[in-house]
Amino acid sequence: MSSSVRWRVFRGVLTHPVTAEAVEAFAEGFGELSRRDGGIGAWLVKPRKNAGTYSEIAGPACFHTDSQYHHHPERVFVLACDTPAVEGGDNLLIAREDALAVAFEALGSAGVDRLKQAVWRWSVPKVFQSDSVPDVSPPSAIFREDGTMRWRIDNIVCDNDADLKLAQAFERALEASPRSERVRLLSGDVLLCDNWHALHARTDFSDMNRVLYRARLV
Ligand SMILES: [Fe+2]
Repeated sequence: MSSSVRWRVFRGVLTHPVTAEAVEAFAEGFGELSRRDGGIGAWLVKPRKNAGTYSEIAGPACFHTDSQYHHHPERVFVLACDTPAVEGGDNLLIAREDALAVAFEALGSAGVDRLKQAVWRWSVPKVFQSDSVPDVSPPSAIFREDGTMRWRIDNIVCDNDADLKLAQAFERALEASPRSERVRLLSGDVLLCDNWHALHARTDFSDMNRVLYRARLV
């Protein structure tokens, strides 16, 4: 994707019922599939647990980048809709540039300077921990020198209360910001999103029949 286009929505490009294979084939048109998580290309996103990863539970998701705990998060994610929630479960998207503007407005330049320091860590989901993968990520900036960003509030690991309060204030400002774009996917629609230069969130939903697939590109 070009530097100015952080996401694209493709309407009605997949036929119902949507399959993992169809999502993988679509995603492969834009790059190499990540099979980092257990060798699986396209993951089912459907509520099936009371607690777990965002792909396993109903309800809202805070603003985040995928794999923020990884030393090299995937470049792009693809979200394909088989069955939307009757109500909610929409995507909220905000470009890195706008997230930075939100941070300046809410936290001031001293706050932004702190977000730009490589002191932020995230806990690694239990399912992805192993002997070779520690339970907390190596430290990173949120707004990184390479122009990418990493973010998630609900698994952030802070050494001190001031950092935690700063992070929570940033998330609140993101959630209150009119700069985000709301995208509702319908059956057959696909969202392609730059995971290095945009944040995404999900609005609340309770419909257990919501079915999407998610794939990532390295
Ligand atoms: Fe995500």
